[in-house]
Amino acid sequence: MTTAAVVTAAGSGTRLGADVPKALVHIEGRALVAWAVSRVLQIADAVVVTAPASHLDAFREAVDGAARVVAGGATRQESVAAGLTALALDDDDVVLIHDAARAFQDLSVMAATVRAVEAGADGAVPVVPVTDTLVAAPAADGGLGAPLDRATLRAVQTPQTFRGRVALDAHRSTGVDATDDASLARELGYRIVAVDGHEWGFKVTRPSDLILAAAIAPQVEAS
Ligand code: C5P
Repeated sequence: MTTAAVVTAAGSGTRLGADVPKALVHIEGRALVAWAVSRVLQIADAVVVTAPASHLDAFREAVDGAARVVAGGATRQESVAAGLTALALDDDDVVLIHDAARAFQDLSVMAATVRAVEAGADGAVPVVPVTDTLVAAPAADGGLGAPLDRATLRAVQTPQTFRGRVALDAHRSTGVDATDDASLARELGYRIVAVDGHEWGFKVTRPSDLILAAAIAPQVEAS
């Protein structure tokens, strides 16, 4: 049994406004994908990175042999499926599926997801409380949407970690459409548990996130 990981990095990152794919943007002198891979490698024995097909060489250079790089797909779901195929998982392996955009996730969170699966869960996902007041989207006339009770809600982070057979089954199943891996597996009836996430597990998405990333990178490096 091994612990392996897919680092998804095939997104374009249009919301970031960079002229390269998001995962190639440098934070404190290292590409985001290199940060993600080096951290995941402290938990997993083997890592596959899914990259935009147009930039495979640049990603291979960025990870410098630390991970295999394969082409992702048009959606995150397709990219993860490509990564899982490349890993050639055994049913009993444990696999972390991690967004390169969450490169700074705390290692104890990653380890907690693995422990939960080793303890018998089919999958484990980090979640954090929601800090904003939330309402439904505005009506067509601009009217404010109804309030949502944030105490009942959580924001989902990565890594989302599964037994190999569970990840493979979730991504093999057609007709299930979900924006994350745990929702796919949960939809199929697998027991997915939540573990506490961490503020470092935020997703680098918008330009101001780069400032936050640069500010916390030295602390992350030292942790
Ligand atoms: O678009 P979003 O920020 O939600 O993407 C989450 C993660 O999924 C990112 O790390 C991104 O690189 C990855 N992704 C991917 N393939 C896609 C789209 C997104 O690997 N086609």
